[in-house]
Amino acid sequence: MSKYEDKIKKLLAKMTVEEKVGQLQQCGPSLVGAFEVSFEELLDMMFDGRISKEEFDRLMGTAKQDFHEDDLRAGRVGSYNGIGSAAQVNKLQKIAVEETRLGIPLIFGYDVIHGFKTITPIPLAESCAWEPSLWERTGRIAAKEASAAGIHMTFAPMVDVSKDARWGRVSEGAGEDVLLNGLYGAAKVRGFQGDNLSKEDSIVACIKHFAAYGAVEAGRDYNCVDMSMQRLYEEYLPSYKMCIDAGARAVMPAFNDINGIPCSVNKWLLMDLLRKQWGFNGMTVSDANAIAECVNHGIALDGREAAKKALEAGLDIDMTSNTYIKYVEELVKNEEIDEEILDRAVADVLRIKFELGLFDNPYQTNEAHESTAMLKPEYRALAREAAVKSMVLLKNEKDSNGKKILPLEKGVNLGIFGEVAGNGDEMTGAWAIGADSGSCVSILDACKERDIFYQTGTKDNVDEIVKSSDVLLAVIGEKKDESGEASSRAKITISHEQISLLKKLLKTGKPVVAILFNGRPLAIPFVAENVPAILEAWHLGVEAGNAILDILFGDEIPTGKLTMTFPNATGQCPMYYAHINTGRPGGKSKFTSKYIDAPVEPLYPFGYGLSYTEYEYSDIAVKKNGDLYEASINVKNIGERDGEEIVQCYVRNMAAGRVRPVKELKAFEKVALQAGEKKEVTFNIKAEDLGYYNWNMEYVKEAKEYVFYIGGNSKDCLEVSIKD
Ligand code: GLC
Repeated sequence: MSKYEDKIKKLLAKMTVEEKVGQLQQCGPSLVGAFEVSFEELLDMMFDGRISKEEFDRLMGTAKQDFHEDDLRAGRVGSYNGIGSAAQVNKLQKIAVEETRLGIPLIFGYDVIHGFKTITPIPLAESCAWEPSLWERTGRIAAKEASAAGIHMTFAPMVDVSKDARWGRVSEGAGEDVLLNGLYGAAKVRGFQGDNLSKEDSIVACIKHFAAYGAVEAGRDYNCVDMSMQRLYEEYLPSYKMCIDAGARAVMPAFNDINGIPCSVNKWLLMDLLRKQWGFNGMTVSDANAIAECVNHGIALDGREAAKKALEAGLDIDMTSNTYIKYVEELVKNEEIDEEILDRAVADVLRIKFELGLFDNPYQTNEAHESTAMLKPEYRALAREAAVKSMVLLKNEKDSNGKKILPLEKGVNLGIFGEVAGNGDEMTGAWAIGADSGSCVSILDACKERDIFYQTGTKDNVDEIVKSSDVLLAVIGEKKDESGEASSRAKITISHEQISLLKKLLKTGKPVVAILFNGRPLAIPFVAENVPAILEAWHLGVEAGNAILDILFGDEIPTGKLTMTFPNATGQCPMYYAHINTGRPGGKSKFTSKYIDAPVEPLYPFGYGLSYTEYEYSDIAVKKNGDLYEASINVKNIGERDGEEIVQCYVRNMAAGRVRPVKELKAFEKVALQAGEKKEVTFNIKAEDLGYYNWNMEYVKEAKEYVFYIGGNSKDCLEVSIKD
């Protein structure tokens, strides 16, 4: 199993049942002293407006933290989460190593989702770069910074395939496609874990949320998932599997149930599939409070039963619900749980502690220099590169002189509208909990840095501002807390104020550029129809402002392509490119699969994105060579600027034993092409990768005919068919 099994066995033999359970207990610091209410209540008070965000921050800033040191000394804590400071980590680690009976070191986990201090673009944005090596490099710097703060494990990557833009957490993953999620996740695993977990700058990747959290009904957070096993295996599970194959050492079961069994107590998921079929021998960590919540799910009568079910299902660590620490010792002593089951879970945790090298080197050795390890110039440079590559140019019309609006001429005067333009903290996006306030370069900061003449305006002084502006920038979209966890939306639009601002700006006759900040696709037909230039900037992190100006002024060329479909209307959700055709695909006739009050088409399709140059595709061909399909195409840069095009290859099985999606992404390549240059791009696709699960859940490859589609987005492709 691993070279540590003997050591694990010996250690287990020395442990009391209570100490064993202690290894499964993960706690976070609790807040005490400054106020009477619980942290959860305080959060609620902020969300429902009883206290302001400023008041909340003030209370948090003054609150004392309780690190449960007495429990720790008694061997009743195995890991912590949410502590990101080497000094604090070392202090608690010293207690574990020197003051507990067996001296077993602690693991410190943290949500390092898109950077620790050097915040890089939110995952949904970064996925639009379609560049695994970039994803790995940003993962690596996140690990370097996090480990310098004493962190050993990140609760990332999230590889939940997400086809429903209402779900707030789409911002945390790589969008709607399973292959992209898998490649994104595997790259992050390599980046976080490095080549050897025992190195001080490696951290454990805890992939989440296992499984299919992205498919929650109606896009509502924490909701249920009910789907066929075929879809689960084809469209949702492969992204997690690709991360396990890349070596991910931890897995977090999702909050949701799958077909009626919550993932936290789902033995089929955690034992049969994950461990037996996929060969995983790392550790599983529950989501926050998730074991106790099995009572709400209605799968356990009380916390005691929930703890029993979760442990028996293969859930090793209890994150903050305190059910294991309360009940498992007694359950084992009463012989209601077999001690071997407890031992198996503890062995998983100890194995990771050995692999991390914590028994030999429990401390962060560079504590005094922690701050110099953060936000290094080269990290910022990488964050800027990632931000440039994450943006997607959605529209770029010509102005009245017949010239494309973007890129802007150097020296133009800007009128900048939208409160977010000057607020760097808003540009970090959801789950940037380690970020230092003020570390992020806003659009206005970047303008100042470059001596660009700009004025900021609001909808009330448009006429005044336009007088001395050549181009108007409308910075609109979502604030950072409008996406992420617990931020599902039933209307994925922009506000009336933003629309009325746009109307005023458009009336002036000056060129208007919309810069979109958002953590999900938005249904914005008004913007798409009326605003002549639209740049999707997502939430780009610490270098947001610089990267946006790089693109606006043409120092860099846009290359990003959407990894989630943009619908026209919220009611189209879930909307995704890899849908099935149905017996009556949406068309002109009324009696086809469509809406009477919204188009059947998306606003922007999956894979879409413009640039400052254009590409022409020709000569698509496919041939079969043994077990490989070789699909090729010529791509030519027909514009005047050098660029990079993300060439995408989709496949459809035209008639199978089970209906198949109209397109499935099977390969892609980012191709550098100088102005005027033409290249042949070839994709080698294994026949095995074109299979599917039949009614009896057997993986089969049967097909009569495949159609290969290759192009610059999922809609505009050339196609060629091949009989099987
Ligand atoms: C949450 C999330 C999970 C996160 C965990 C720890 O509620 O669902 O993604 O890793 O708590 O903070």
